Amino acid sequence: MEMLEQHVREGRVSFHVPGHHNGTVTDDSLPTAFNKIMPYDLTELAHLDDLHHAEGIIQQGEEALGTLYQSKSKWLVNGSTVGNWSMLAATVKRGERVYVQRNSHKSVWNAIEWLGLEPILLTPELERGSGLPTVVSLRTVEAAVTQYPGGKALLLTSPTYYGDMADVRAISRFLQTLTIPLLVDEAHGAHLIHPNLPNRSAIFEGASAVVQSAHKTLPAFTMGAWIHYKEDINESRLFHALSSFQTSSPSYLIMASLDHARAYLENLSDRDWSLIQTSHLAFIMEMRRAGFTIKVGDDFTKMTVLTYPKNGLIFSRHLSSIGIDIELAAEDHVLFCLPFRELKTQEIHHWVKLIKNASQHVPFIDEDETIYPFPMTEPVSRLHLIKEDTHVVRLPFDEAIGRVAAETIIPYPPGIPWILKGETVTDEKIRVLKEWISLGRNLQANRHVMIKQIDVIVEEF
Ligand SMILES: Cc1ncc(COP(=O)(O)O)c(C=O)c1O
Repeated sequence: MEMLEQHVREGRVSFHVPGHHNGTVTDDSLPTAFNKIMPYDLTELAHLDDLHHAEGIIQQGEEALGTLYQSKSKWLVNGSTVGNWSMLAATVKRGERVYVQRNSHKSVWNAIEWLGLEPILLTPELERGSGLPTVVSLRTVEAAVTQYPGGKALLLTSPTYYGDMADVRAISRFLQTLTIPLLVDEAHGAHLIHPNLPNRSAIFEGASAVVQSAHKTLPAFTMGAWIHYKEDINESRLFHALSSFQTSSPSYLIMASLDHARAYLENLSDRDWSLIQTSHLAFIMEMRRAGFTIKVGDDFTKMTVLTYPKNGLIFSRHLSSIGIDIELAAEDHVLFCLPFRELKTQEIHHWVKLIKNASQHVPFIDEDETIYPFPMTEPVSRLHLIKEDTHVVRLPFDEAIGRVAAETIIPYPPGIPWILKGETVTDEKIRVLKEWISLGRNLQANRHVMIKQIDVIVEEF
């Protein structure tokens, strides 16, 4: 950060990219805030180091990060997405087997498809009451390596979107006996470092590599993320992956914000930690007092309001209409990501009043609507392998039941596939899909899915 400020203060002349030349190519249409920030949007000049070959200020920033997380660490400028791709590429080779949590983010599934890996799916536990998918148990991990031996890595998501965390210590201990590296998509867990937390980041609990979206829970710019890794990760494969998958023009704004996020976390005193956690708890208690049913996972910064029997999708629209934007809404719940700072009592009272008002006019869920379900499968399963030349046919939804899907369909958010390419299309999956389409839920899918058609493979006998 200081180096960027010094560079700007010197009023240097830019005959290099980016094309705004330190903010000198501009006009009156640009908002003032953009004008102010442009000079800091620099490029890899000799004194500003190189992300892909760090030896100067970037290396110093990454080392400071590694000290904080007791690991080796690298900044990422393309989100946890690129971190997930790189962890997998560093540990599993084309055609090799990898164990993966079924409710993983689409970045994991995309990486598996493009890297040509063979995934063994681990079904997460379902939470009693809310029915939400949580984390993978040690029992399921043990079953997976017994039923499908030979996997080269195991990838978990912890914390989940809803703040649930796996027993990483037990799972990593078990995997160490088999020398299988544990990779953790911790996109939502960059803040979980304090030694007194009952559930800390997986990097302190025995994981081999952990990816965190600093931009999700810390004060970093969008896309700012980082990866921490231990000695058993092949560093040259990891670096090769990172420099292949990431841009060759990393944003200095993002990188400076990553260094700031690290410093923010590092400078928190025990008292700050305590104030943050107690204020989050106070918010949750105040919501409960106002009559809301709240699910809290292991991560105190996630607050899920269980809205059943009222409609969470409509609740979120009411909230938005009064200026409150939340992270995610589904039929029977809404998810709030709480700011990682002390929440003031007046704020809490103000917010709870607004949220209560917004909830008052939310209708009940239609009787025939499905509550956010999770596809029921065996605890451990595998996907059909779909090759480039696999024969595919497009069918109306109802005719596709019992066939193998040749495409992936993802409700967004949370970005966890509902149907995975290579999975069998079930009655339940089609019923829920039809309902989401009629409710206008945001789906990442091919256009024909919106007219209730899906590509499936033609089984050859
Ligand atoms: C669990 C999980 N992993 C990975 C990602 C991708 O993170 P990013 O947006 O930083 O690329 C997300 C984003 O929502 C996520 O929720």
